[in-house]
Amino acid sequence: MKKIIITIDGYSSCGKSTLAKQLAKELQYTFIDSGAMYRAVTLYFLRNHVNWENPKAVSEALNNINLEFFYNDASQKSDMYLNGENVEALIRDMLVSENVSNISAIKEVRAFAVAQQRKMGEEKGIVMDGRDIGTTVFPQAELKIFMTADNVIRVERRYKELYAKNPNITIEEVKNNLEMRDYIDTNREVSPLRKANDAIVLDNSNLTMQEQLQMALAWARQQI
Ligand code: C5P
Repeated sequence: MKKIIITIDGYSSCGKSTLAKQLAKELQYTFIDSGAMYRAVTLYFLRNHVNWENPKAVSEALNNINLEFFYNDASQKSDMYLNGENVEALIRDMLVSENVSNISAIKEVRAFAVAQQRKMGEEKGIVMDGRDIGTTVFPQAELKIFMTADNVIRVERRYKELYAKNPNITIEEVKNNLEMRDYIDTNREVSPLRKANDAIVLDNSNLTMQEQLQMALAWARQQI
């Protein structure tokens, strides 16, 4: 069977990675969470007090970063490694969420991540979710999905997810963070979040996970 590249882009907390994981499982493809890569770079910059307004400091820091992403299909668990350390839990922290959009707007950071993402897609058979996957990373992808969902629903979903790990978090904090990231991601100069012209819009505000999966699978099967 022909292997394709499936890209899933969209605003924060639309359920992109949930759908990407389900699709990967059904098609026996590899799931890649590109946001985890930007989050790991952000963690490195914060930990090492990298002055990200200085392009030289950014390039030097990037030379010292090694990223590895693993996903276990059976447990549906992903693990992001930063220089050999499993940072999966740390990169979901609010401090990383508050800084990741500013750091991922830097052109050197994007070039660093995009080069690795393209390598991961060389053999096809991948589902990658992010913000610029269908527009910049794989503009030739066979299936591009652009996900949206009602803002209130997105905030609620994200709040539930984060509250389970940190009961001190407030819904206001979650809402502000989503709005800030969407704003920066959409307005940055390099590879802003946009729907690719040939992407299919999937608004999952009123869809069950099973319904959205069946729709996406049908689109994928038309290409395979
Ligand atoms: O997907 P996630 O919400 O974890 O992504 C975190 C942040 O990483 C996004 O808000 C965005 O700033 C950045 N990102 C990006 N390009 C991607 C994936 C994520 O700029 N392809």
